[in-house]
Amino acid sequence: MTSNAKLIQWVKEWAELCQPDAIHWCDGSEEENQKLLDLMVASGMAVKLNESKRPGSYYFQSDPSDVARVENRTYICSEKEEDAGPTNNWRDPKEMKETLRGMYKGCMKGRTMYVIPFSMGPLGSKIAHIGVELSDSPYVVVNMRIMTRMGKAVLDVLGDGEFVPCIHTVGAPLEPGQKDSKWPCAPIDNKYISHFPETNEIWTYGSGYGGNALLGKKCFALRIASNMAKRQGWLAEHMLIMGITNPQGVKKYIAAAFPSACGKTNLAMLIPTIPGWKVETVGDDIAWMKFGADGRLYAINPEAGFFGVAPFTSMDTNPNAMLSAKANTIFTNTGLTPDGDIWWEGIGYDAPAGTITWTNEVYDKASGKPAAHPNARFTSPAYQCPAIDKDWENPAGVPISAILFGGRRPGTLPLVYQAFDWNHGVFMGSIVGSEVTAAAIGLKAGVRRDPFAMLPFCGYHMGDYFGHWIKIGETAPDKAKLPKIFNVNWFRKSPEGKFLWPGYGDNIRVLKWIFERTEGTVEANETAIGFVPKADSVDISGLDGVAENMPALLKVDKNDWDAEIELVKEHYANFGDKLPVELKAQFDGLVDRLKKA
Ligand code: GTP
Ligand code: SPV
Ligand code: MN
Repeated sequence: MTSNAKLIQWVKEWAELCQPDAIHWCDGSEEENQKLLDLMVASGMAVKLNESKRPGSYYFQSDPSDVARVENRTYICSEKEEDAGPTNNWRDPKEMKETLRGMYKGCMKGRTMYVIPFSMGPLGSKIAHIGVELSDSPYVVVNMRIMTRMGKAVLDVLGDGEFVPCIHTVGAPLEPGQKDSKWPCAPIDNKYISHFPETNEIWTYGSGYGGNALLGKKCFALRIASNMAKRQGWLAEHMLIMGITNPQGVKKYIAAAFPSACGKTNLAMLIPTIPGWKVETVGDDIAWMKFGADGRLYAINPEAGFFGVAPFTSMDTNPNAMLSAKANTIFTNTGLTPDGDIWWEGIGYDAPAGTITWTNEVYDKASGKPAAHPNARFTSPAYQCPAIDKDWENPAGVPISAILFGGRRPGTLPLVYQAFDWNHGVFMGSIVGSEVTAAAIGLKAGVRRDPFAMLPFCGYHMGDYFGHWIKIGETAPDKAKLPKIFNVNWFRKSPEGKFLWPGYGDNIRVLKWIFERTEGTVEANETAIGFVPKADSVDISGLDGVAENMPALLKVDKNDWDAEIELVKEHYANFGDKLPVELKAQFDGLVDRLKKA
């Protein structure tokens, strides 16, 4: 399938080390996909869903230990420890490779090694990057086929060119005659998600779960790509990309960084609740951004599918996600109904009697055990999204007018506020905090700092990353054309613990204010923290019971912010002299303004 000598040699060497029973070069065809799915149904790993309800779709239950990303088993193996920085686990690359080589020896015994060529970004476009993943998991193959451009066409484009080598094994070799487990994987302390940023390599071991195993996504498109972006002067970010058209037909694109399970997929696909506005989806998780010839910042979505959080996705909250997952979708760790469909908490109707939980028990609501794991996911092709933007595969990308940051903050942070300028916006990104979610295993509950929503994904020193963002602003071809920066918070709560803001489709009302701020057609109050909407300038027409919450939603409370300042001080202390002076100045400026407030 290829004459790429380096690739052929590389596959040969890894096959010798991992000792699979067979090697399969993935062509990405429909027939190949079906064969692998049939194989997984036959082995008991997959359930084919009811063809009349969920055509072409399959259901998986993972091992209970393998349900999410494993941040404490994720490593950045740069030559110097300092280059990984205080927010990453560092290992010496030579030592890590030695450890892993020992573990890889014979790790694919009894299994097939799949060679998975994939492109992040539209096939053949100048901004796209090609990787090849070696994996012993057919689940990974069928997911990669949805999430990336995968198969023979990628090898044709690759020719004799360079690729990012990605190694994946579930870490569960089979003895002759040994029966496979339903979801093979290694125990938690034996999982490794390792990155070698200087040589653009990814070596992983022991997990079959999405972000740990679909190596094009977080490992390549964020951890490795953030390093490439720093070296080459662009941005690789944990951001959705969406188009917004106003009633006059003016269209703008927005990118938004929220931590895992904090609302990117939902915002990217929202159906506006105010008349005349339209939202279209370019991407729901990752954005690569570069300046265009016209001096504006352009974004592409390097992915080809959605790996979305299932629970609380419904025809009420996110119909476009539900419709994207109507067919040809892989469901992992949801519930399974007796008539061969999926079910999860918050899907909008009760679980049919006899629904099976993600742990393969009969669902009993009274037990308090959910049918779906909170991090249950659907994998759906992006082209199936009814709101997909006509330019979602445009290799030139889409021009970004605004960048949003946000997270789950029950207090302190207003519904929306705007940065004074680029550096102030970088400051806002650098102090993002959020209540942690189920998207990663083993995190302490409560608010943690997750700068730029990149805490688990920045592949180098976070202080240098802040500096890179400052530099992007400084070296922009035309500073007037830089996106305006905002912070949003859909999750502010009343003292009784109720969300003050309806969220979901009603978030268009905040996007409208943001849209109009980028045009300079709506006024704002200048506060110590930034520009906050005037009391009546967020359009809440037709909403019941929200008007009385607006003062609390827009409140900038001095005591809250004095407390926040202390937390930011602690957070900033982690970066020592790697903290850019521009951000120290931003911090001091905020402290000063709060004193005067
Ligand atoms: P990752 O795929 O992990 O990066 O997550 P994400 O940022 O795409 O989050 P997603 O849109 O999947 O939302 C995660 C959870 O937050 C879901 O359970 C949503 O129902 C919930 N959520 C999303 N938007 C809102 C909102 O505006 N308000 C409230 N209250 N909840 C929301
Ligand atoms: C996230 O955790 O931010 C995700 C899911 O988007 S995963 O691909 O597993 O990282
Ligand atoms: Mn994500």
